[in-house]
Amino acid sequence: MSAYVHGYSNREARRLSDQAETLAGILYGDLQYPKGVVVLEAGCGTGCQTRVLAAANPQARFVSMDRSAHSLELAKQAAAELGLNNVQFQQGDIYAPPFAEGCFDHLFVCFVLEHLPDPMGGLRSLRRVLKPGGTITVIEGDHGSFYCHPETAAARRTVECLTQLQAALGGDALIGRRLYPLLGQAGFARPRVEPRMIYVDHSRPGLIEGFSRNTFIAMVRGVRDQAIAQGLIDAFTWDQGIRDLEQAAGPEGTFCYTFFRGEAWCPD
Ligand SMILES: C[S@@+](CC[C@H](N)C(=O)[O-])C[C@H]1O[C@@H](n2cnc3c(N)ncnc32)[C@H](O)[C@@H]1O
Repeated sequence: MSAYVHGYSNREARRLSDQAETLAGILYGDLQYPKGVVVLEAGCGTGCQTRVLAAANPQARFVSMDRSAHSLELAKQAAAELGLNNVQFQQGDIYAPPFAEGCFDHLFVCFVLEHLPDPMGGLRSLRRVLKPGGTITVIEGDHGSFYCHPETAAARRTVECLTQLQAALGGDALIGRRLYPLLGQAGFARPRVEPRMIYVDHSRPGLIEGFSRNTFIAMVRGVRDQAIAQGLIDAFTWDQGIRDLEQAAGPEGTFCYTFFRGEAWCPD
């Protein structure tokens, strides 16, 4: 398995869960699947989005796939604890999904393309298992869309380190802005992309905890050792940058980040 910038630690599993709980309503709370359809969720990880989707759509069936057996085990346990009986978990690779051609009505992909060395190849492989006329929903971030107040050079540098580490592993933390061309180039029809901006200030305490601290800063903080070991930054500047991000999540600060949600069709 190729390296994955965020890793598979318990801390990262918790971060994914905080991220999904905070953002699901904003990013895809309006997504309702028709009765009886079968949805493939590709790159489900520990099942944080799965739980939201499956609970909100009991009329649909979900097959949630990831390449990590460890993440799938955690996802299965959590779904069982919630009594979700419309989800099946399956180990598999996005580049070679272990399913028959055209067997899914819809595809759902969230925070995954940014980690793929060949996102267009991944989308093409997924398109093959989608029925003609079926839809894909893809949600990705774009770290270039992040800004905050106060914003310091050290804070900005920590975020750039994450972007650089992800790029070194073949990913693209700036992929949100590329969703529209990627969907078209992968053979999907009528792509449409909408930005979903998250703005946080002191009057939105839920977003300060759920997004600024537990999603964004936690994500950046998670690559400290890699960034320093690879000589991208020194420990002093890193720690200052994290303190500066925390200040921007404080009473006088603000945070802004844009996610991109793409929808497209499998041609008939
Ligand atoms: C940031 S996590 C997102 C997990 C989940 N979608 C969520 O939003 O909580 C990215 C996931 O993509 C998975 N992944 C990366 N490349 C993959 C591939 N080629 N095939 C299947 N899963 C892959 C990783 O194992 C990881 O669980």
